Amino acid sequence: MSRLESMRRRLTAQIDGINWAAGQIEELEGDVLELGLGNGRTYDHLREVLPGKRIWVIDREMNAHPSCVPPAENFLQGDADRMLMQMARSGTKLALVHYELGIGVAEKDAAKSRAMSPLIAPLMVPGGLVISQDPLEGFERIAGPETVAADRYLFYRV
Ligand SMILES: C[S@@+](CC[C@H](N)C(=O)[O-])C[C@H]1O[C@@H](n2cnc3c(N)ncnc32)[C@H](O)[C@@H]1O
Repeated sequence: MSRLESMRRRLTAQIDGINWAAGQIEELEGDVLELGLGNGRTYDHLREVLPGKRIWVIDREMNAHPSCVPPAENFLQGDADRMLMQMARSGTKLALVHYELGIGVAEKDAAKSRAMSPLIAPLMVPGGLVISQDPLEGFERIAGPETVAADRYLFYRV
């Protein structure tokens, strides 16, 4: 599979995965967290499918497309571990986390996502979802939408 085809597969998995997760958590109390703003593509999709939810965003940099810059009060700029601890101290509760802090190097990305897991867990409401292309620990892995291959995107319930 070429990198271009792999990218198409990832984008499709993200769209289908976010759409599916949004339907699952709509009725849950709790906010949403975009962990890794980047260009803002997945943030833009989250806000489109979950217009009633507050969407927090963490990134150490602001490199989003101008149309995808989150409101200042929802953007936590800094290292993810420090920002997640800050959210826990302020009592934020999350129904959905979309995790994308990776750089596309599988081993490094997996080590990072595993290390972030215990910082995400205390923020989640019961029944909340974490979705990611990198593996997390301490959550129950569940099946996502049928259109997404099991190894392409990972779905976890709290
Ligand atoms: C792959 S990009 C996210 C792509 C984005 N979801 C999109 O759709 O455009 C990963 C982002 O995570 C951020 N990042 C990586 N490690 C981080 C860390 N430890 N703390 C904060 N931000 C981090 C990078 O600055 C980068 O913007």
